[in-house]
Amino acid sequence: MLIVSRRPVSIRPPAFHSVLLRSSRYNLPVTPAVKDLHFRLATPADIPRIPPLIEASVRALGPQAYSQSQIEQSLGTWLGLDTQLVVDGTYFVAEVLASGALAACGGWSRRRTPFGSDHRPGRDDALLDPKTDAAKIRAFFVHPGWARRGVATRILELCEQAARTEGFSTAEMGATLTGIPFYRRHGYQEGLREDLPLANGEVLPIVRMSKAL
Ligand SMILES: CC(C)(COP(=O)(O)OP(=O)(O)OC[C@H]1O[C@@H](n2cnc3c(N)ncnc32)[C@H](O)[C@@H]1OP(=O)(O)O)[C@@H](O)C(=O)NCCC(=O)NCCS
Repeated sequence: MLIVSRRPVSIRPPAFHSVLLRSSRYNLPVTPAVKDLHFRLATPADIPRIPPLIEASVRALGPQAYSQSQIEQSLGTWLGLDTQLVVDGTYFVAEVLASGALAACGGWSRRRTPFGSDHRPGRDDALLDPKTDAAKIRAFFVHPGWARRGVATRILELCEQAARTEGFSTAEMGATLTGIPFYRRHGYQEGLREDLPLANGEVLPIVRMSKAL
């Protein structure tokens, strides 16, 4: 009952409640960790809370594939919050039931910008056509204390279901190198590698990945 009172009913799309009740389509067990979390759409009140979560995630989990310098240069530009997704009602957070802290965030988009934060160069907020375009999977970040406990899996399920409900039949993303094993595990196939320019002249390599929904 406490859980219900926390939900931002006003911005949730009609299909959301039924999505929450579905069991995992990836046949991963519902871990005790996931049961300790409340998955809901992000609200404007979450906007200041999300960047610290993203920074904690990238600083702890990013070094598996990137240098410290690449990480610091990417935070706030390529890696960060796109508030348009919050406004659109397509960005989720996982909140710790016991404390209210954020454990993870991630979302999808019906707009053309493929990845990156509010401050990335070359944004394009034009709407995609679900009949011909792929929905964008966007900005998944899990707090290191909650990693490898199925949290991002649950958010990905919510995103894919919501995109399917809007008529998309394909999803794609620009995956960080640290994200590739996760997306591969969920059926995404690797495409072209892209080197995103950083302010200090280095690059951030990412890989385009996609799958049929
Ligand atoms: C990538 C990320 C979102 C995955 O989140 P997560 O909640 O730990 O993922 P899950 O627990 O749902 O993982 C599900 C499966 O994906 C695969 N997987 C996830 N992370 C993996 C890793 N680091 N190495 C290898 N496989 C991994 C595993 O098969 C895992 O199942 P298992 O733990 O039973 O082996 C998280 O590591 C993260 O936030 N990384 C830093 C930020 C980042 O790079 N985000 C991606 C942006 S595109």
